[in-house]
Amino acid sequence: MKVNSIISVLALSATAFASPKPKGHKHLPTTTIAGVEVVDTQIVRDAHDLIKKFPDFLYWHSLRTWLLGAATINANETLKAQVDLEAHALGTILHDLGWDMSPDSPWVTHENRFEVDGALGAVRFIKEHKSYKSCVWTDARLERIFDGIALHGTVGIHPFKNIDSKWITTSVGFDGVNFQPPEVPADKFDSVVAEYPKESFQKGAIDTFTWMAATKPDATYNTFIEPFGTAFVPGYNATGHRSFDRIVAGYTPQ
Ligand SMILES: *[C@@H]1O[C@H](CO)[C@@H](O)[C@H](O)[C@H]1NC(C)=O
Ligand SMILES: *[C@@H]1O[C@H](CO)[C@@H](O)[C@H](O)[C@H]1NC(C)=O
Repeated sequence: MKVNSIISVLALSATAFASPKPKGHKHLPTTTIAGVEVVDTQIVRDAHDLIKKFPDFLYWHSLRTWLLGAATINANETLKAQVDLEAHALGTILHDLGWDMSPDSPWVTHENRFEVDGALGAVRFIKEHKSYKSCVWTDARLERIFDGIALHGTVGIHPFKNIDSKWITTSVGFDGVNFQPPEVPADKFDSVVAEYPKESFQKGAIDTFTWMAATKPDATYNTFIEPFGTAFVPGYNATGHRSFDRIVAGYTPQ
């Protein structure tokens, strides 16, 4: 073998190792929603159909999370080539299954914090989908989605996670109340918010957090939901349930 063909073989294999991609998300079909190019596979369409049944404030928030995240990822070709865009789609679209206030919700448990209900729900949705294959939706891919959803109510961890979990959580953060993220291209932010308005989001979010504190208080102590219980739920009392209370019990400041 000539030296230059050895070098080109080495270069080829170096390229292959440099960009490891989870199986199953190459050459995905796409569509455009509110001016944003997004993945258009059957499982993503079915996830989209699932959240359409939620109240508008929640459906629109979930859609904006997906679209604002995708718009930001699309604006950086390197990033776009690295992120598992189908996992990002499902992780964002399904991240708030734990907000389902319908009395017969198949997603909401009494004992889990809401982010975990969403994360478990998203994984279950994928595993129960008619297209599910364990070689496509590997445990590693599902865990990235689980983590991206489970971390979305906690500050400071997701920036240090793998690229897929990080971008699911980051995208949720793009759709905060009273907030326009500087990272999202401004024209895409405007087209997304015009199609899926934010006006009902503040009240919807506060109503949902208050409902969580009222209906499953044990799953809200020590989380960012706790102050909503303290402020808005009569009889809600976190004192005695917080890590702080256990740690300072019996302690006298010097
Ligand atoms: C684009 O994404 C890559 C990979 O995540 C990152 O290293 C780079 O800083 C990004 N570029 C810009 C302009 O944000
Ligand atoms: C909350 O619970 C703690 C611990 O049981 C109790 O000492 C405190 O008086 C309670 N606060 C209110 C406002 O009921």
